Amino acid sequence: MKIFVDTANVKAIKEAMALGIVDGVTTNPTLVAKEGDNPEKIVKEICAVVEGRPVNAEVLSLKCDEMVKEARGIAKWAKNIVIKIPMMKEGLKTVKILADEGIKSNVTLIFSPTQAILAAKAGASYVSPFVGRLDDISTDGMELISQIMSIYNNYPTMETEVIVASIRHPLHVIQAGLMGADVLTIPPKVLEMMEKHPLTDAGIAAFLEDAKKFKK
Ligand code: G3P
Repeated sequence: MKIFVDTANVKAIKEAMALGIVDGVTTNPTLVAKEGDNPEKIVKEICAVVEGRPVNAEVLSLKCDEMVKEARGIAKWAKNIVIKIPMMKEGLKTVKILADEGIKSNVTLIFSPTQAILAAKAGASYVSPFVGRLDDISTDGMELISQIMSIYNNYPTMETEVIVASIRHPLHVIQAGLMGADVLTIPPKVLEMMEKHPLTDAGIAAFLEDAKKFKK
């Protein structure tokens, strides 16, 4: 299992790096905007912090020629950049051009298995199905992951990796792990939830209390 951190917050990424759990980072325009700084500066800093692991940065253009131009520019920021491209026809055309140039892409805002098939065929290195946003509209997000993985597994030449995105809670993480998803992109808040258990805290407190009775 690869864990990407779903944030543009450099401090949070450094904290996760210290835990030794980071295989990469995903950002999106919303996450970058939250940091209140220049996107190029933020993404370059993240690239340096994660020491060569993939860092996903998203294009804003919606036309193929503009997306390609923007993507080529972003790809120059660092060697470990993966370009996030929104799922749409113009995006698929862009993915193909970038793949031919050896630039990795992650097709984002995937909400159906057919979109994931097209992205893989176009040459995307990754697809990002958003599970939480499907749950939000009373549709089983994790079921989408299961379907995409089954389809990809039927065709070993489809090497596109599935990034479980829009993870909102630890149950998504457990379900994704049980399914054997390639990558989970996890927000810092959920990483913290994963670490906590009241019985662990109670156990530590009890051990420390008992340690006071040690013979000197
Ligand atoms: O990785 C995609 C993620 O950032 C979107 O999450 O919670 O805004 O649906 P959310």
